[in-house]
Amino acid sequence: MQVSSEDIIALIEASLEANYSNVRTASNKIAKCISNYDLESAQKIKSILRKRGVPLQSSGYMESLPVDMKSRAPLLEEAQWPVSPLFLNSEAKNVFQTFIADVVNIEELISHGLAGRLNLLLSGPPGTGKTLVAGHIAAQLNRPLYIVRLDSVISSLLGDTAKNLRQIFDFAPKKNAILFLDEVDAVAKLRDDRHELGELKRVVNTLIQGLDSLDDHAVVIAATNHSGLLDPAIWRRFPYKINFQTPDYDLRQNLWSHFLFLDSGDESITALLAKLSDGLSGADIESISIATRRKCVLTKMDINIGSVVSAVIASSLGNTATPTNGELSTVEKKSITNLLHRTHGVTQVDLARILNTSRQTISSYLKD
Ligand SMILES: Nc1ncnc2c1ncn2[C@@H]1O[C@H](COP(=O)(O)OP(=O)(O)OP(=O)(O)O)[C@@H](O)[C@H]1O
Ligand SMILES: [Mg+2]
Repeated sequence: MQVSSEDIIALIEASLEANYSNVRTASNKIAKCISNYDLESAQKIKSILRKRGVPLQSSGYMESLPVDMKSRAPLLEEAQWPVSPLFLNSEAKNVFQTFIADVVNIEELISHGLAGRLNLLLSGPPGTGKTLVAGHIAAQLNRPLYIVRLDSVISSLLGDTAKNLRQIFDFAPKKNAILFLDEVDAVAKLRDDRHELGELKRVVNTLIQGLDSLDDHAVVIAATNHSGLLDPAIWRRFPYKINFQTPDYDLRQNLWSHFLFLDSGDESITALLAKLSDGLSGADIESISIATRRKCVLTKMDINIGSVVSAVIASSLGNTATPTNGELSTVEKKSITNLLHRTHGVTQVDLARILNTSRQTISSYLKD
């Protein structure tokens, strides 16, 4: 099947009308047509469609979204459902599944007088999957996800902030949307000398009133890096809580396996990387993995585990780590050998494999 002029015209029209769903439909059709003879470009189109969020201003949705009266900036943004998988430890998975089940079965819970607020609070360090969880919940529930733009909501005038919050809580239920209050602690951060405590209290109260105004079916997810900063009254309004930590060993193994090896890696290598990457976030592991795979594609070489290990070590020390995927210098190999062997008990045989060298060389590094 060839791309027809009609397909191209449909795409141009949809783009000019800022009709996002038609752009997707037309692009998907084109990708399908060209996949017969140019698979790479077809995949590129699919990947663009998957990754690009829709800028709401240009999509024509903006009219219907609440905006800040003064700046006209939208207070909400519709997020796309994520395409990458989510890895959770058993505790977090349990809360996640319970939450979904309670939302799905809310009618039954209501009929037994057991409905409660469907509010979930996600707290923990950056890059541990909070936003991803919100997206997965929306996807599983098949409901749109509206991210509250707290930077637009919080105006220099606290009166306007309260007004903005009210607009949001009026709007979301009409769309059957999941409301995602990202960085909800921003409200708490207003507690500085620019504002009076009384005024701040008004904003917090408006937020609380907003939460209380929602009916039993409303789903609100909030995320924070600093749960300690949250007002206790807000904290209490979120009966479901997931406290994220940097990923544990099993989770790190899953993350390496997925992001670096596309789920087809050598188990002993993933295990080693998992061991070494204690303290890194999911986002750190993802970024080292993607950078490595990019290098592999561009240099047409296989993954050089030594280089990944070196990036992991640098990253653990708080340095920015961009794996080169090139051959490591002897000095680097020696230092990795010593570290892995002495601190992590990695055997000489494994070290030889990781660093692409002989056991004799490893043994000589250790003697040096
Ligand atoms: N548990 C996880 N499972 C799968 N992927 C993860 C996980 N944690 C992090 N990632 C990867 O890292 C990316 C960033 O995660 P995310 O945006 O959800 O972090 P966050 O906790 O919301 O961070 P922040 O506090 O900075 O907003 C994700 O898109 C995903 O690719
Ligand atoms: Mg986030």
